[in-house]
Amino acid sequence: MMKVELRSDNAVGVAPEMLAALAAANHGTELAYGGDTYTEHLHNLVREVFEHPSARVFPVTTGTAANSIGLSAMAPPWGAVLCQHNAHIIVNEGGATSMFGAGLVMKGLGGDSFKIDPAELESFLEATGWGDPHVSQPAVVSLTSPTEYGTVYQPKEVATVAEIARRWNLGVHMDGARFANAAARLGCSPADLTWRAGVDVLTLGATKNGAMSTDAIVSFDDAASEQLVYRTKRAGHTASKMRFQSAQLIAYLTDGLWLELAGHANRAMERLAAGLGQLDVGFVNDPDVNILFVTMPPDAIDRLAESGVLFYRMDESTVRFVTAFATTDEQVDTAIALVGAALG
Ligand SMILES: Cc1ncc(COP(=O)(O)O)c(C=O)c1O
Repeated sequence: MMKVELRSDNAVGVAPEMLAALAAANHGTELAYGGDTYTEHLHNLVREVFEHPSARVFPVTTGTAANSIGLSAMAPPWGAVLCQHNAHIIVNEGGATSMFGAGLVMKGLGGDSFKIDPAELESFLEATGWGDPHVSQPAVVSLTSPTEYGTVYQPKEVATVAEIARRWNLGVHMDGARFANAAARLGCSPADLTWRAGVDVLTLGATKNGAMSTDAIVSFDDAASEQLVYRTKRAGHTASKMRFQSAQLIAYLTDGLWLELAGHANRAMERLAAGLGQLDVGFVNDPDVNILFVTMPPDAIDRLAESGVLFYRMDESTVRFVTAFATTDEQVDTAIALVGAALG
């Protein structure tokens, strides 16, 4: 039976281009802990790609590390990070932000399409007991784009949230574990999606889009960058052989490879969504990128699980499908046929 992998973009392997970059970096010697020529090149490349003259990049091994260490550099221990209540940082990271943030807490806000509702953010800030030591002091707003539910923030939507954050003296963080998928979808520049819209610190994911255990914190804020030099080391994320992380990220960001890989994953989802749209399933989210949640009768999900399609079952009648840079049209078409058969 042909297996069709739709559980996660974490389930697929490493993109051949990134593996080749690793192999190419595997010669000679280099200074450790980021003192190597690859990491220096990466810094310049990030500044060029993000059109920001003082951006700094800190490679780490996971998205959780990028989020939690990045956030810890933006808030005091008595602070609060405000995020949409489905955000990975609050639901799926085991409190890593609180640990690296020395007690920093996260507060979940509502919002349609899995994005923060600006009006709710404003009301929350208005109702905050500012200066009251009994109350965690809001310090950062964290947006996820694409969201955990596969929707993306338009640059204008980021700017709206960031403008509120600025007025209340909060920093702006973006969890971009799948940032390339958002950039490929929107077709706008990385700068427009981040610092030009008000983002101070970005989690730039690469692993889900083809890297081997390599994501990065990109900081557009000098004060956060200064702290991140120390915080990444203290958190155990300053790799001695950083050149291998940097070599991958260089390949990723060169000649648009990141957008090509993400564009492929997005197109695979478009094809899947078009096919599933013809069947009797409900869409939970607009599949702006490579993630789609659908509702189906529980017995159809049981049959689908036996059919060779690999997916996550979120509850009795909801499943999650995720495509990746390696998903083929044939796999997508097989999945559509098997969902059709499972529905009966
Ligand atoms: C939106 C989002 N942020 C962050 C992460 C964390 O990445 P990691 O699992 O590498 O820690 C994930 C992982 O699935 C994610 O989906």
